Amino acid sequence: MEALKSSFATSRCSLIFFGLLLLFASAMSSSQAKTHLHDFVIQATPVKRLCKTHNIITVNGQYPGPTLEVNNGDTLIVKVTNKARYNATIHWHGIRQMRTGWADGPEFVTQCPIRPGGSYTYRFTIQGQEGTLWWHAHSSWLRATVYGALIIRPKEGDSYPFTKPKRETPLLLGEWWNAKPMDVVREATRTGASPNVSDAYTINGQPGDLYNCSSKDTVIVPIDSGDTNLLRVINAALNQELFFTVANHKLTVVGADASYTKPFTTTVIMLGPGQTTDVLISGDQPPARYYAAARAYASAPGAPFDNTTTTAILEYKSAPCAAKNCASSKPVMPSLPAFNDTPTVTAFSKSFRSPRKVEVPTVIDENLFFTVGLGLNKCPKHFRARRCQGPNGTRFTASMNNESFVLPSNISILQAYEQGIPGVFTTDFPANPPRKFDYTGNVSRSLWQPVPGTKGYKLKYGSRVQVVLQGTNIFTPENHPIHLHGYDFYIIAEGFGNFNPKTDTPKFNLVDPPLRNTAAVPVNGWAVIRFVADNPGAWLMHCHLDVHIGWGLAMVFLVDNGVGELQSIEPPPVDLPLC
Ligand code: C2O
Repeated sequence: MEALKSSFATSRCSLIFFGLLLLFASAMSSSQAKTHLHDFVIQATPVKRLCKTHNIITVNGQYPGPTLEVNNGDTLIVKVTNKARYNATIHWHGIRQMRTGWADGPEFVTQCPIRPGGSYTYRFTIQGQEGTLWWHAHSSWLRATVYGALIIRPKEGDSYPFTKPKRETPLLLGEWWNAKPMDVVREATRTGASPNVSDAYTINGQPGDLYNCSSKDTVIVPIDSGDTNLLRVINAALNQELFFTVANHKLTVVGADASYTKPFTTTVIMLGPGQTTDVLISGDQPPARYYAAARAYASAPGAPFDNTTTTAILEYKSAPCAAKNCASSKPVMPSLPAFNDTPTVTAFSKSFRSPRKVEVPTVIDENLFFTVGLGLNKCPKHFRARRCQGPNGTRFTASMNNESFVLPSNISILQAYEQGIPGVFTTDFPANPPRKFDYTGNVSRSLWQPVPGTKGYKLKYGSRVQVVLQGTNIFTPENHPIHLHGYDFYIIAEGFGNFNPKTDTPKFNLVDPPLRNTAAVPVNGWAVIRFVADNPGAWLMHCHLDVHIGWGLAMVFLVDNGVGELQSIEPPPVDLPLC
């Protein structure tokens, strides 16, 4: 203090000091958290794709929907009005919703759906998350067209942990059906068969040059020679994991699911539905036009999938041909991995690290083992054959630990949990598979048919949880993107075959594992996740392939309140929709 005083003894110095003080004060006020108000109107909107006009469900007539841009620490208040003829809810995918579980959005889990004509206001604060998330409808297959980006920048005055890019471009990968998605799922529910695959993939709602009648609307991603662009890639597709690459350019991964990662460089990324990946791309190639392209990673052997490719164009501002008169010069096309290129997926997913040492729970209170996979139901006696068009006259199903999840229909699980209403769900979701078997081997047919039910698993506030997510070979193995609501979790290991605690535990990364909200569980393999149950509420964990949610690949964690207000869920909002 004495030293300070004497060094600011001269008037000139105190002037500088005063100036600094002013600067500091203004920095303080500009770093104040903001509240963002938005109106979302869910409505039918005509949109022309693949040569025809379709009436799709949108938010505010936009497809994809509005991009929300906020800073870490800000509050969002979004009034959602449902002017469509379907039930609707909006989920803020990846937002932790600390104490605000009522705003999470999955229908019949944290709220009843917003009925046509109704509205509901979602209120929540972003706490300690930075990067790219997104929002989407969480009611049946409505999210096929009802989704948008949610970009969280550092608090004002804070910066990215990498050189600030000149530009930023959100790229939402989507999936397009010429039929109404809600009709596609209704038909599949009727027949018991798997739903029709999509007709196109899209980037920011546009299929791109390789589809009929789509060229003139192909998305342009601008870049300048020598500059860097931050691509915020979001897999918003309904049912398909996707590879994404840009011709002749390297991608430096710097974040995923709104957590920063230790930067690593790759030529191709893979995202399961629900996942986001932030990549830096540099304008270090000859000025020209290059395709950014996405197509399927199809891990289930023999299963039908949409094998088309969507493209956008990375265009150098200094390219010899300007945007309009480039029609004759074809952009450079990248090569994409084969549809079943699991080794590329494995190499990519094993590259993820947190930027530095992180605090992974090491003492575990809840050691859980969940199988995740498909199943087949025998045709119920009173069903006609046309309702059992799954393999060999069955109906498709799916489960975790042999429990095929069924949503309640007249109240949400969170309401029932908070208000102690019995008969809505039970709390006996098994911590382990009811029967042990060779999960990834040749599974006996007697184990293919799970039990339907609405079961949750209770967690004490603050408990440290490990879940082994074990894929199964029932009917077909597949890479399942498992998403947990209300939490981020560390992925501390993954592998193929059956998880073996003896040989696999020593391989756990307890130093710098990546923090995610969605884990792509390897095909016929496993992933181990850890988190601390510090957010009270009812939190859905499910496969983010919507076809699998409908079949029951889901469960719910019921997390207790802790001690005092700050460890308890807020009271329900007064406008919470009733069933
Ligand atoms: Cu992105 Cu349960 O959702």
